Amino acid sequence: MRTTRRRFLRNLAWMTTVAALPGEHSKHAAGAGESAKLLDTSALARFVDPLPIPALAKPAGLRPSPADPALQIPYYWVPMRQFQMGVHRDVLPTTFWGYDGSCPGPTFEARRGKPILVEWSNELPRQHLFPLDHTLHGAEADKPDVRTVIHLHGGRTPPESDGYPEDWFVPGKSATYFYPNRQEAAALFYHDHAMGITRLNAAAGLMGLYLIRDGLEDGLNLPKGAYEIPLVIFDRSFRPDGQIYYPVSGKPGAPWVSEYYGSAILVNGKIFPYLEVEPRKYRLRLLNSSNGSFYRLSFGSDPSVVSAGLAFHQIGSEQGFLAAPAEMNLLILGPGERADVILDFSGQAGKEIFLRTNVAIVMQFRVASGKTVDRSALPSTLRPVPHIQENAAVMTRELTIADYQNRLGRSNVMLLNGAHWNMPVTEKPVLNSTEIWSFINLTDDSHPIHLHLVRFQILDRRPFDLAVYQLTKKIVFTGPAAELAPGELGWKDTVRVDPMTITRIIVKFEGFAGRYVWHCHLLEHEDNEMMRPYIITPA
Ligand code: C2O
Ligand code: CU
Repeated sequence: MRTTRRRFLRNLAWMTTVAALPGEHSKHAAGAGESAKLLDTSALARFVDPLPIPALAKPAGLRPSPADPALQIPYYWVPMRQFQMGVHRDVLPTTFWGYDGSCPGPTFEARRGKPILVEWSNELPRQHLFPLDHTLHGAEADKPDVRTVIHLHGGRTPPESDGYPEDWFVPGKSATYFYPNRQEAAALFYHDHAMGITRLNAAAGLMGLYLIRDGLEDGLNLPKGAYEIPLVIFDRSFRPDGQIYYPVSGKPGAPWVSEYYGSAILVNGKIFPYLEVEPRKYRLRLLNSSNGSFYRLSFGSDPSVVSAGLAFHQIGSEQGFLAAPAEMNLLILGPGERADVILDFSGQAGKEIFLRTNVAIVMQFRVASGKTVDRSALPSTLRPVPHIQENAAVMTRELTIADYQNRLGRSNVMLLNGAHWNMPVTEKPVLNSTEIWSFINLTDDSHPIHLHLVRFQILDRRPFDLAVYQLTKKIVFTGPAAELAPGELGWKDTVRVDPMTITRIIVKFEGFAGRYVWHCHLLEHEDNEMMRPYIITPA
């Protein structure tokens, strides 16, 4: 039952029974020759930098609403700039690109039903920080090197403000987007989406959080203010001079690599940061904004990554609150996924608690000694999450995820349903209709699949016989559906499609008719054809 509180304590055996996820075992992105030239981030002093908290975005005034010109709504102006940032006390300043000159960019706080306008202004230099691959579709040599377009991931946004990958603009230009915020409280994620160079713009730092608040959330009495902490997590490798290292394939004229995994995990832009906390409940808003790494996150009083984790409660996924808090000690977060978590430090006064993955230490919480008054609550229920019945779907689309390799076994291109970006649109759901999308993963990697505009529910994730499928196109399941994590039972906008599984989601195409995209959120895949337009047709 979705409405009752569930216990979900996993043991360490489970960590090893789930196959390795992208990024877990290749902590060095570079080839053997190149890694010698990189900074050994694992040797850096731990917990010498305080965790930065991104500033709040501030409106620059009021402007008429495009939906209702009689209404004046907040107008924000956000320049994208190149700037220097210290990622660690002992690392030389790093050149980043960021919204408002910061990485992560400023956090937006919006209210449900209260629209805003944002003018995104490209003030970046004309030369990119990283080598471009002009053989990729949309990044040909006749296109400017520096192009940006902003997508509000998880936003129910009209198509002209959604950041269609081909709607990019160059330094000196801007785009003003309208965000209606007609959706439930959730942590959204804004980031760059320019065709063929999204991975490089993201690697340079163009990302930030966008929180939507609502009355239901206000009534829950969750920890807030200084007790609500955003944790934007991504990984990077660095050169000894402090600059971000982004690998190249070594193939002349075609530097694209199929994945980017950094050697260091940063939180809010710092390596191994610490945060001083009080012995009380905190609300942590986690976002994995890595290009390609998945994380199995846990909290422990022991920095060892193999010790059992402390219990915490997940209260929300990408599209807002779960039906009820789910107690757990391990959370998997893939690129683009978010989690809303309550962690209670009240029994930990005077101790150190660590955020860890199963292969690395990420950050430290220093819990003050003594006592604090904590009037915040961990409610027993949060928000009803009505289960969409399978028979509500007017159709099921079977969509393959496949990797086409060259003779050396290196990835050439990865496609969704065998189609390239510029082939005719095949997914055309009708506005307000419900469909099942069944993702058939023919590769040996997990892919985080994201649909713009909509929220969805996961139906199941089930292993099937790949060899039989490749010979006969018949689906033969080889076992029962895997148990979904509690965070996967709420509203999602990004789903992990595991290797040799069929993962089904059910989606109601609400919001707007128009052209959107769906894609793999492993940004190297997305940039090389693992993205497709889709069109919501009017009812
Ligand atoms: Cu977060 Cu189309 O992406
Ligand atoms: Cu992918």
